[in-house]
Amino acid sequence: MSLLIANIGELFTADTELGVLHDAAVVTDDDRIVWIGPNSQAPQADERLDAGGRAVVPGFVDSHAHLVFSGDRSAEFDARMSGEPYTGGGIRTTVAATRAASDDALRANAARLTGEMLAQGTTTWEIKSGYGLTVADEARSLRIAAEFTAETTYLGAHTVPAGADPDEYTALACGPMLDACAPHAKWADVFCERGAFDGDQARAVLTASADAGLALRVHANQLTAGPGVRLAVELGAASADHCTHLTDADVDALANSATVATLLPGAEFSTRSPYPDARRLIDAGAAVALATDCNPGSSFTSSMAFCIALAVREMRMTPAEALAAATAGGAKALRRSDIGRVSVGARADLAVLDAPSHVHLAYRPGTPLVKAVVHDGDVVR
Ligand code: NIG
Ligand code: FE
Repeated sequence: MSLLIANIGELFTADTELGVLHDAAVVTDDDRIVWIGPNSQAPQADERLDAGGRAVVPGFVDSHAHLVFSGDRSAEFDARMSGEPYTGGGIRTTVAATRAASDDALRANAARLTGEMLAQGTTTWEIKSGYGLTVADEARSLRIAAEFTAETTYLGAHTVPAGADPDEYTALACGPMLDACAPHAKWADVFCERGAFDGDQARAVLTASADAGLALRVHANQLTAGPGVRLAVELGAASADHCTHLTDADVDALANSATVATLLPGAEFSTRSPYPDARRLIDAGAAVALATDCNPGSSFTSSMAFCIALAVREMRMTPAEALAAATAGGAKALRRSDIGRVSVGARADLAVLDAPSHVHLAYRPGTPLVKAVVHDGDVVR
């Protein structure tokens, strides 16, 4: 089936060569974009979607999300908003609820959240395990994650479960747990942080995971300026995520690497923490992505538009930089060249905004601006 998206007032391609086009049209065929050009020259297609002069952007790429879980931590959020600090300790609350949940309950929750994402213009989402923390529960989480995305991430090293010895647990995460999870995972991730896994433990899990054929990403420098970012760069990880507390050496390392700095402002919002400095990273030459970090503890949002608005207001990004980070940047963080931009040959994933330009994503924060979503060439909303 081919689809003509006609009368596009502003087409934000997130493609460095194409840039921003006006009075444009896009044609998709099956799950690919096959034509981009002036609206007046658009060819016919089987179906037609009239954008009515509105802005069209690439479907958002949410490269960091924790969607296989059960339970609610609104009381923890409420306590934080009364002055309690965020430590990551609440992960264990979600682990207990997740272990107790049925497969179908976990599936239903992931379906609800990916449904929210799609309705808000996100067409690719990564999903991590990390709320199981036993061999069976981590493997189960990844099997369920794989029902919703090809971008599945083994995060057995999310935290040391209650009562476990940190070094013994690290050995489990490098051995039997990895063996059980690797068949269902594309990526491996570690929460490298004080109170979670230190640099040596994180290195052990990441190198074992790379040996098992998984590509790497790291939760790095979220709460403190630890060794996570430099470890991610040294091991050739696709992404170092959070990057909230960075030394000059961390910024230099990112700028001189192929590792993307994935910024997750929903986490700083929901933990009332200082935001990462995107401007410092961009000016140094680092590649930057934006993602939701959707999880029940530190960032329970599924909205990429919300993250874009925060990045513009609080992290010194321009609206164009933030949107590029939420699309092409996320694609780079997943090492994908077929998503996150509007170009011929890319996947047919687009969002029509009920707005004349992409700037409205930050200019009208909190307003549901996504009017239509095209995913794999189908108009899904
Ligand atoms: O990315 N930092 C570690 N993991 C999550 C938080 C998980 C939780 O609090 O449940 C994050 O923020
Ligand atoms: Fe996370």
